[in-house]
Amino acid sequence: MRNTEIERLFSGLIGEEYELLRVMHPEAAEMSKRVGEFVSNNGTSGAGLPLKVLEIGCGTGITTLALLNSREDIHLTSVDNEPTMLNQARQNLSRWIEKGQVILVENDALSALCDLPDDSLDMVASAYTLHNFLNSYREKALAEILRALKPGGIFVNGDRYGLDDFEAHTQQVQTEVKRYFEVLMERNRTDVLEQWILHLFSDESPHHVMRTQPTLQTMEAIGFYPVEEHYRQGINALVSGRKPKTS
Ligand SMILES: C[S@@+](CC[C@H](N)C(=O)[O-])C[C@H]1O[C@@H](n2cnc3c(N)ncnc32)[C@H](O)[C@@H]1O
Repeated sequence: MRNTEIERLFSGLIGEEYELLRVMHPEAAEMSKRVGEFVSNNGTSGAGLPLKVLEIGCGTGITTLALLNSREDIHLTSVDNEPTMLNQARQNLSRWIEKGQVILVENDALSALCDLPDDSLDMVASAYTLHNFLNSYREKALAEILRALKPGGIFVNGDRYGLDDFEAHTQQVQTEVKRYFEVLMERNRTDVLEQWILHLFSDESPHHVMRTQPTLQTMEAIGFYPVEEHYRQGINALVSGRKPKTS
């Protein structure tokens, strides 16, 4: 039976022209770098063992590259359900794929997580993917992340964490929309602009929007501890949650 919670929001123009997002949303590149730095500074595996990391929503491989460059002992599996994005990732990461340091998997995030054994990952990392999920789907994914992490393992996510002050949040989104127009009108790409505006409506809809406090509270209720916000620029935040050593 088709799971109606699974959405494919990056097929078509948005996926094909994903490079434009670097100009439209420069905060994302900084966030990818920070996700890599976080893994570099916080991941621990057993002595001599590779650091087993799952990346959720690798897209074209921007954050994947930051993860691969973060440390030599990383063994990364990156999941995405959108072939348009994965095809670009295969090209961008060919050197790493050949070396066997990253495996790209075409699958839905929740299905991939459910297939993993308990306590099997040192870290789960992600950037700008979970905010796309329906709230109900995100909650299930977070619970599966916790289950699949080893005790002491960490989930790190650099993403859109909406401001809890609704007015301030709206102002941030308006600034974002203004930038989309500036960048894409200058390039005569009204076709891409239309798709990103529609996408933003999905991100902001009540069933998707990932607000900061409710999301952090959900993570704690599921069993992550501590749950911490490490960095914020507007609605972009780096959040982590640890699986306690004893539950
Ligand atoms: C905004 S892109 C972010 C890509 C990348 N992490 C980055 O930092 O540039 C979100 C990615 O998540 C993927 N995605 C969204 N929902 C997904 C799901 N349910 N399962 C797997 N991948 C998903 C999309 O296909 C897309 O490639």
